[in-house]
Amino acid sequence: MRLLVTGGAGFIGANFVRLSLEMRPEVSVTVLDLLTYAGNTASVPQDPRATLVKGDVADAELVDSLVREHDAVVHFAAESHNDNSLDDPTPFVQTNLIGTFQLLEAARRHGVRFHHVSTDEVYGDLPLGTPDKFTPDTPYNPSSPYSSTKAGSDLMVRAWVRSFGLEATISNCSNNYGPFQHVEKFIPRQITNLIDGVKPKLYGAGLNVRDWIHVDDHNRAVWAILEKGRAGETYLIGADGEVDNKTVIETVLELMGHAPDDYEHVADRPGHDLRYAIDATKLRDELGWAPLYGDFRAGLAATIAWYRDNEPWWRAQKLETELKYQRLGR
Ligand code: NAD
Ligand code: TYD
Repeated sequence: MRLLVTGGAGFIGANFVRLSLEMRPEVSVTVLDLLTYAGNTASVPQDPRATLVKGDVADAELVDSLVREHDAVVHFAAESHNDNSLDDPTPFVQTNLIGTFQLLEAARRHGVRFHHVSTDEVYGDLPLGTPDKFTPDTPYNPSSPYSSTKAGSDLMVRAWVRSFGLEATISNCSNNYGPFQHVEKFIPRQITNLIDGVKPKLYGAGLNVRDWIHVDDHNRAVWAILEKGRAGETYLIGADGEVDNKTVIETVLELMGHAPDDYEHVADRPGHDLRYAIDATKLRDELGWAPLYGDFRAGLAATIAWYRDNEPWWRAQKLETELKYQRLGR
């Protein structure tokens, strides 16, 4: 099976490539990645079954020539960080909307199976302290340029299924954690700050809740959907991992040998979504998926160990990332 994995030099895509090569001896992978600030060639495994092509998912000609040579496309490539989208939405529109459009057109022309990786943020946010969760029937209500461009890309996939009979599926996953995540994101930022002797930074009061899932549990769900998912369907991926940001920071501090209150509050993110929570019943019941990483604290400890052991992987990105946050006042 020849897989075209877009964004395979980024966090989730690179973990997907690694897991696929490990679990599936019959699979070969082509990674299509623009190697933006978020892509890292060191995340792509050196393996005779993996090839890296540097290029843009919005490049119609390149995309056409690659898609036609593959059995399936797994589309991870995106601009993925909310704070960046609030600073400059332009690349979000270009990659998340135009890039997805070019891939869909190529998949349609060549009759190639398509899986679109998306986020629960397309649904907006939920109130704190309620049992409500996102389901596949929750209306789209995105808050930021990031989530709105992801929502637009999801809607295009749905339209290409209905109008052109494209064999496509969509997954909307909650917040991922694990190795190879860029240091701009919440958990790696705090771990690497502490390694550098800098206090962790909590936006606002830190009451916002995210539904954390280990990246390998996400990617095992993507495989289940790729193999057993019904065309045209949307599957929500989550592992019942709701934790508020303040508790995450306190746990990271404690696991790294610091007092749990040794962090600082910084300016809140504008339009900051309060709470995300996923109801993954459809994925569990229909496709038999279940998460393997049930213990968030143990997963965090393993992630901290990975960042301690792999400083050369993240060091080059750290200074630039913190300069950006300084400029944004966070
Ligand atoms: P990431 O930012 O770590 O990686 C994105 C990758 O896409 C990078 O390697 C980058 O170089 C590449 N890329 C960007 N623009 C491109 C372009 N125009 N052409 C080709 N490649 C391009 O992102 P991530 O966290 O790994 O997220 C991957 C996908 O999963 C995204 O679609 C995101 O919306 C979705 N998602 C992420 C999370 C999360 O918690 N991180 C949760 C749910 C869904
Ligand atoms: P992030 O990793 O950016 O993911 P998302 O915006 O997709 O949820 O942020 C996760 C949460 O952590 C979010 O509520 C914002 C918050 N946050 C902080 O409190 N401090 C930080 O330094 C960062 C980067 C995020």
